[in-house]
Amino acid sequence: MISDAPAFLIQFVRHPITTGAVLPSGSTLARDITAAVPRAGHPLVVELGPGTGAFTRAIQRRLAGRGHHLAVELNPAFATGLARRHPTVEVVRADAAALGELLAERRLAPADVVVSGLPWAAFPAVRQQAILDAVVGALSAGGVFTTFAYRHALPARPARRFHRLLAGAFDEVTVGRTVWTNLPPALVYHCRRRLHPRS
Ligand SMILES: C[S@@+](CC[C@H](N)C(=O)[O-])C[C@H]1O[C@@H](n2cnc3c(N)ncnc32)[C@H](O)[C@@H]1O
Repeated sequence: MISDAPAFLIQFVRHPITTGAVLPSGSTLARDITAAVPRAGHPLVVELGPGTGAFTRAIQRRLAGRGHHLAVELNPAFATGLARRHPTVEVVRADAAALGELLAERRLAPADVVVSGLPWAAFPAVRQQAILDAVVGALSAGGVFTTFAYRHALPARPARRFHRLLAGAFDEVTVGRTVWTNLPPALVYHCRRRLHPRS
């Protein structure tokens, strides 16, 4: 949402690496990245790095009151704002790398879908691996992981390394269309059939 832009920009100035973007994602990218959220049943949906809630709104629309939506956000300012605006979402101020512990503490079943808004290309290799391990360990066998990347950053080493990690962790990794209207243009990775949770 355009009105979220100033709040997002302030957090980018304060925490440029972890925020990883100057503006929140747009609604078309939000639609693409949340397409795996089932429109039936009572799924467990985990969202990582919700920020000001661009993907949160789209997930909530698809869930329409069903299932459970756990949002894990490192930045306390984002987490507080999100919890206020989305009382039906369980917002946790925590590091995505602790996802396994967060689910165990809550006795939540493995996740049906994990939607990531994390800035993977800003993370060093060990951090990418640690968080991806937590995601794979949290997913059910048939679970789906979606995450996005900025188109212009794809040739950069951290982005290529992350793509390799995805290919090693999932049987199927498909790359969605480029959403040119997003600022900056971005695309979604759809990852299915986790290969193995690393111990
Ligand atoms: C690029 S922004 C995306 C925000 C939102 N999903 C969107 O697309 O507009 C990255 C978000 O991930 C959060 N973040 C970064 N590292 C994190 C971590 N280790 N655990 C949880 N959240 C994290 C940031 O605080 C920020 O909200």
